[in-house]
Amino acid sequence: MLASNETLDPTIQTSSLPQAQQKKHLQLISKTYQNNSESDYTEKIRDLGNEFDYEINSNYYWGDPELSVMYGTPLYNAASASQKLSLNHLFWVGHYNHIAASEANTSIYNTVTNGVFRSTGSYETLCQELDFETEQESYHIRTFQKIGFKTKMAIVGKTTLGNSAYGNSEKDNNSWLRLIIPNSVREFFVSGQGNSPFSVHRDRTLSAIAKTMLRDKKQYYSQYLRDLEAKGQPIPAPADGLGGRIAPRYWLKFFTIHWGMSPFMACQYYSLRYMANAVLKNHEYSYVKYFRELERKGEYIPAPTAVSYYHLMDEAFHTTISQTIAKDMYKDFPKPTAYEKFVSGMIIYMMQRNLLNGFSGVFPNRCGADDPLLMVFIYKLLKSPLFEMETKEALDWMEKCFCQEHEGFHVGLKYHQSLLESLQKFFGCLDYQWKINREMGIMASEASISKALHNNLKTFKQFSESVIASA
Ligand SMILES: [Fe+2]
Ligand SMILES: [Fe+2]
Repeated sequence: MLASNETLDPTIQTSSLPQAQQKKHLQLISKTYQNNSESDYTEKIRDLGNEFDYEINSNYYWGDPELSVMYGTPLYNAASASQKLSLNHLFWVGHYNHIAASEANTSIYNTVTNGVFRSTGSYETLCQELDFETEQESYHIRTFQKIGFKTKMAIVGKTTLGNSAYGNSEKDNNSWLRLIIPNSVREFFVSGQGNSPFSVHRDRTLSAIAKTMLRDKKQYYSQYLRDLEAKGQPIPAPADGLGGRIAPRYWLKFFTIHWGMSPFMACQYYSLRYMANAVLKNHEYSYVKYFRELERKGEYIPAPTAVSYYHLMDEAFHTTISQTIAKDMYKDFPKPTAYEKFVSGMIIYMMQRNLLNGFSGVFPNRCGADDPLLMVFIYKLLKSPLFEMETKEALDWMEKCFCQEHEGFHVGLKYHQSLLESLQKFFGCLDYQWKINREMGIMASEASISKALHNNLKTFKQFSESVIASA
């Protein structure tokens, strides 16, 4: 468990770091593991989840009012005091629902990369820490889900707030395709389960490219991926959470082979994980400040606020590990090849383009521009027992909230900017990255309220047309 037990892999000769510096990050990993395993934040989170009773917490704000769904919109200003309280609670639920999905993704990639570190025979403490983190995530996820479910049932009952009703445009596309493309051709490309002959060929081709380009690293191939292959099972690829929004599933499978085969790429994954840590901290730190304020005043601390507080404490350990691997430990291994640099660049470029491509005017501090999925969520919320609106009334309010400037956009921009600064600071240190990634150029170019409104006008027009067409 101590750094002194660790020896660097003798097969790795080309570390660009002097021994003293190598020892420094190994010591930090050991210290973090020790502190993490001695802390009791996870147990507190577990107990808060098990004991959660919505009634007891229902009359309190769980975070600053600006952490509320629709905060700063004309609708929020017209809402009653009890609706505002519910919007504050639903924000917590929506936010942690997304975090739960993201942490499920993290658990997979922790296991994939852990297999690579273990195969070097030199990072046992780190491997134990990553196993421990994965176990912690399972407790976090269960607590988020328990609180989320009880709260949602209390506020909107069985109303689904997800995207299940937003299938019409896809259905329309398919019927349009049906008219012009012969059946045999369409079946080659399209399958409801994502396993059409075309997608199987595509996955196999991408996998063959990755394994050919990394063939000199096959001794590090993650045991987790070996086991999946032996059982004939596909590489898992998330469809939701932060990971699921970065790239289509076939790209994620392709990247996973890299993270599970090359020690450099396994370390590179942690730059992506750091992004998730920074996104989380950008949100969660506001809850922590709120928690401390209540504590200082001796006031009641709602259970979800306490969960946020203890979660950030647990995640601080994870953030340290992400930073240490992504900024220092990767230098223990041979310098990346041109191919590895290219794939690393592509991953972070996609992260910027698909996930960090703007900010929301109705869901403060949500990553990315307002999109059809968020519009479905708001539409269903307005039609739920909380607002009980008819279709036309809901669409009229949505137009005001999504397409006209209001305080919500300014709050969204504020969170976008603080995330941008922390990511620029972090990625700016990664000398192997593309310039546009070191500077977070795509994310920075989207920091504009007029751009957000322009994007929303277009998205909302399509959304409202599809709702009216299906009514
Ligand atoms: Fe977590
Ligand atoms: Fe974590």
